[in-house]
Amino acid sequence: MSIVLGIDLGTQSLKCVFYDADARCVVAGESAPLDLYQRDDGTAEQQARWWTRAMGEALGRVDGDIRARTRAIGVSGQQHGFVPMDRHGEVLAPVKLWCDTATTRECDEIMQRFGGFEACIEQVGNPVLPGYTASKIAWLKRHHAVLYAALDTLLLPHDYLNYVLTGERCMEAGDASGTALLDIRRREWSTAMLAAVDPERDLAECLPELRRGSAVIGEVTATAAETYGLPAGIPVATGGGDNMMGAVGTGNVRSGVVTISLGTSGTVYAHVDEPVIDPKGAIAAFCSSTGGWLPLMCTMNCTVTTELLRGLLDTDIDGFEARVARAPRGAGGLLTLPFFNGERTPNLPRARGCLLGMDAQNTRPENVLRSGLEGATFALRYGIDELRGLGVRTDTLMLTGGGMKSATWRQVVADVCDAPVTVLEQDEGAGFGAALQALAMCEGGGDAALREICDDHLTRAEALCCEPSRSAVNFYEEAYAAYARAVETVSTLYGQAATTSDDEP
Ligand code: XUL
Repeated sequence: MSIVLGIDLGTQSLKCVFYDADARCVVAGESAPLDLYQRDDGTAEQQARWWTRAMGEALGRVDGDIRARTRAIGVSGQQHGFVPMDRHGEVLAPVKLWCDTATTRECDEIMQRFGGFEACIEQVGNPVLPGYTASKIAWLKRHHAVLYAALDTLLLPHDYLNYVLTGERCMEAGDASGTALLDIRRREWSTAMLAAVDPERDLAECLPELRRGSAVIGEVTATAAETYGLPAGIPVATGGGDNMMGAVGTGNVRSGVVTISLGTSGTVYAHVDEPVIDPKGAIAAFCSSTGGWLPLMCTMNCTVTTELLRGLLDTDIDGFEARVARAPRGAGGLLTLPFFNGERTPNLPRARGCLLGMDAQNTRPENVLRSGLEGATFALRYGIDELRGLGVRTDTLMLTGGGMKSATWRQVVADVCDAPVTVLEQDEGAGFGAALQALAMCEGGGDAALREICDDHLTRAEALCCEPSRSAVNFYEEAYAAYARAVETVSTLYGQAATTSDDEP
């Protein structure tokens, strides 16, 4: 019996999936919700202890016998969060997350010290955008100097869970590239960027060792085994950022495949064999966790948008689906610009959501819901166009994330992006990818073995796959152009700096 466990630390919840690789079936899957502390100034934080509590809750719901038969673990996690740890392994402060936009001042200062936005892209591959880890380090220094002085190790969310399970402090290139501290071409820390983040301290001393994907980083300790009901001594893989593990879980491990994730964030990413660097910085130049690179576009408001509007109109999931299916294409002229939490792409951290084009006929619940779904999709279409513009092949679109469960949304993605959409039977995405990485580790394989494992263990859910419809593609071409014009117009409204504050959750 070969059960591997994939854990995915998301923003809204932590999920675990137990996969029996011999029987080719998921034998258990559970989740536990997570709180999110947000403020008007762009703060978005969680406490690291909330994650470990959620891990205990989710795993605790799984049959003890299944847990006891687990052979290996892989952990996926939301990217970019800054987990500042002291030398005793205590987390020093609340974790500022990928969707925290309160550090725009620090981003500007770091890029200025480095030599400017273009210089960052030229030398390390990425600008320092709000959300990436680098500015959160400078923020801690400015706002909590004493805690910053005690900083011993800088970890990312999935690295922290790896630490809790194994006692090992390490990173891998995929998630590390989301710090903006990595020279993504060489897959090494950039000394110049570290100096730009803090000219007074050698931050290299706080960076853990970089390990290669599918390697063993350590074994489950006796304490973790007892806490989580898992066998002591089983190996833990490097794991990775949720998008890197989502790439594995959707078979996005070769050129030509693009994954669109309809989650809290919306992401569009593609595996490539050589680094792809966007001179505009809109497509992040990340590394993959499978030895290649993963150019990626992220929006901060994907299911954030549909969930907010669903809550506003007090509709359950079935009601949402019925209403968006009933509403006409183009939502009768309503247009949602989905910037509710501020936005990374386009780079408008202080923007807010807008609902445009309301009139006496179209202001109806079903149109509002559909315009949210369409607006979130238009925002992702920008990523597809940019990837194509950078020469990245976009032959097949793989869909993952919670939004993928909506039949209307799947079709809208195919129509807006003018490409066939593929959905897999194994719809756990990042968690399943982490489980597959753990399997590759058990089989002693590197990246090539992982590619074979993806071929072998992932199957199309034929009934859920869809093709673009010609008339809809033509319709959405025009609707997307209108969306792009509206974004340009509203961008001018959201230029000024937000203030930051010292309050903590
Ligand atoms: C990607 C990003 C998000 C988080 C969400 O750059 O910030 O997709 O990884 O989990």
